[in-house]
Amino acid sequence: MNLLWCLIYICLIGVEAWSDNKRRKFSNDFKFGVSTSAYQVEGAWNVDGKGESIWDRYFHDNPNVITDGRNGDEACDSYHKYKRDVEMLRELGVDYYRFSISWPRVLPSGFPNEQNKLGFQYYDNLIDELLKYNIMPMVTLYHFDLPQKLQDLGGWANPHSVDWFVDYVRVVFDRYASKVKHWITINQPNSICTSAYGETAMTPDLNKGITEYQCTKNILLAHAMAYRLYQKEYKNKYKGSVGISMSLNWADPVDNSTENVEATEVFRGFNIDLFLNPIWSKNGDFPSIVKKIVAEKSKQQGFSKSRLPVLSPEEIELLRGSADFLGVNHYTTDLVKASAKYIHSPSFENDVGVEIVLDEKRNQSQPSWLRSAPYGLYKLCIYINQNYDYPTIYITENGWSTKTGLWDRSRVENMRLYLNALLLAIEDGTTVKGYTVWSLMDNVEWQAGTSERFGLYEVDFDSRYKKRTARMSALVYKRIIQSRIVEK
Ligand code: NOJ
Repeated sequence: MNLLWCLIYICLIGVEAWSDNKRRKFSNDFKFGVSTSAYQVEGAWNVDGKGESIWDRYFHDNPNVITDGRNGDEACDSYHKYKRDVEMLRELGVDYYRFSISWPRVLPSGFPNEQNKLGFQYYDNLIDELLKYNIMPMVTLYHFDLPQKLQDLGGWANPHSVDWFVDYVRVVFDRYASKVKHWITINQPNSICTSAYGETAMTPDLNKGITEYQCTKNILLAHAMAYRLYQKEYKNKYKGSVGISMSLNWADPVDNSTENVEATEVFRGFNIDLFLNPIWSKNGDFPSIVKKIVAEKSKQQGFSKSRLPVLSPEEIELLRGSADFLGVNHYTTDLVKASAKYIHSPSFENDVGVEIVLDEKRNQSQPSWLRSAPYGLYKLCIYINQNYDYPTIYITENGWSTKTGLWDRSRVENMRLYLNALLLAIEDGTTVKGYTVWSLMDNVEWQAGTSERFGLYEVDFDSRYKKRTARMSALVYKRIIQSRIVEK
């Protein structure tokens, strides 16, 4: 009998060791973080000399566009509660915190001749508090909140925006390069240009279909100039790295018909390659498929030249290789269907000519666009590797939205599935240095207000102190960071 128990015990240990071996694990140098952005969490929209941003203006003028009417005037009040935020980061045990600097908070008019001491003081405090607890700051220099005064001058459609951005960035580098080693120039330039300048999904909701490609060129050049500035004046001394975060959801055809497969290729050309090609491909420049289609469409629309501007050889050179890492913001996979739906006005949508179909088979989160499709992250990584020669990647955003409530099993499930997909992509050769949950806490989800909750921490927006409480997902993430293993 004793012998039988001994044998069973030995078998059990064997099985456990075997399954541990089988479980994928993140390496010890892999970093875990969480992310927020200034407008979405800071509040204090006009406190201590902060200037107006385009989102302040847009929501004040159009309160009805916000699902639950809650704008970013107060948000999570991180401007006053940053110590609590850092406490939460410590509770989670993250390696880094990705947050953004509000340009109009530090330079209220957008220009460096007027600098807001108190605005800078806030970021001094936040960064020092992070460093005190060994949490690396990963700073996004621009996350959608342009100073309104610069928008009045044309925003990203104005070629001068390249200089405006570089002048702002220089001030920030001068102040923080000794403390911050991870920089992201711009968050989701592809969403900015398509949604705000090509369509009407984001403010400034301008020039529908006329200036999205001007924006594309200017914003990419602004990024590249900021990158070169760091290389030239700060890199040797401070040894930091500078990247850019793109909105990179995956896209698959809705079925295998030639028409839909081709439409998906076009869609990827516009959504992924238009912004990646100039920086990561060997030849630089905009992708030829996009050049060809925009030229044809522009002609049909009566333009004598393509609406997609030309990049000069000098600009191509400036852009090529202008990033130390690619920040991937990835949430879902879209299903693509060919469509001639948008044929009447010049616009990005019109140029692409596709319709996005939701994958009804997949779990859906709070917003209708977000379906859990982890295989898409794997496929995206492989696509990037094959087309752009294995760049270094940080997943700078991945997350899930729920309604209020602390028992967020769907978020936990989604996080585990995506982390497993990421481990698989790493096993198959992708260089990923870190993973960032969107978001540390519930915040103002742009037009959705606070009706969509992305936080590992729930925020009670009605309470005076904007009380934050850990959800189940916060505890699970903490466990993953400690063990580096993700349960399937
Ligand atoms: C990407 C954006 O960077 C962020 O601001 C937004 O809240 C999340 N996606 C979720 O939609």
